[in-house]
Amino acid sequence: MTESFEFVIEGLVARGYAVLDDFLRPEEVRSLSVLLLQKFEQGQFRQAGIGKGTLHTKNLQVRGDHIHWLSENSPDVAERQYLERIGQFMRYLNTTCYTGLRSFEFHYALYPVGAFYRRHLDRFSDDDSRQYSVVCYLNQNWKPAMGGELVIYLEGETVSVLPQAGRLVVFRSGELEHEVRPARQPRLSITGWLKR
Ligand code: OGA
Ligand code: MN
Repeated sequence: MTESFEFVIEGLVARGYAVLDDFLRPEEVRSLSVLLLQKFEQGQFRQAGIGKGTLHTKNLQVRGDHIHWLSENSPDVAERQYLERIGQFMRYLNTTCYTGLRSFEFHYALYPVGAFYRRHLDRFSDDDSRQYSVVCYLNQNWKPAMGGELVIYLEGETVSVLPQAGRLVVFRSGELEHEVRPARQPRLSITGWLKR
């Protein structure tokens, strides 16, 4: 893991983001995607919002994903293991880069066919605790024709990332605007933030 963590840190320092393949092994992807779909079918997900008190119709013009928060006390081993790995990464960052991170929060996300998330920054106007955004994809055999790319806006250029199974994307929450393009298949991921 140390090598992967170093790879991500190098990207963050050089460009503000990193794309790491095979963060999850295929069997981990499988367990987590099964869990996600079970929870979705059991009605544990809700339509994601964009701020307190925003109208539902307004939300839908901005983002169409459904989410469910992960818990460190989950009865599901795969869920706890995922968060343990995130905790290791957070401590590694703190030890090697003095980032002063104190906590994290992660949710499963399901984008139904056609859903998207318009260009945005992962920060609330009244809360700058989110330092690093961390997205991991759970879509086996995702093809370019299925869309659903994460587009990251850099100065003068954009980077497009397909939501491939096991791939991890990390970027600075307060600095990089990004969007999720509409997908032609349901799009599964775990998204979260390392916080100060
Ligand atoms: C988000 C987000 C990106 C992705 O949930 O804030 O930007 O690729 N997700 O799912
Ligand atoms: Mn975002």
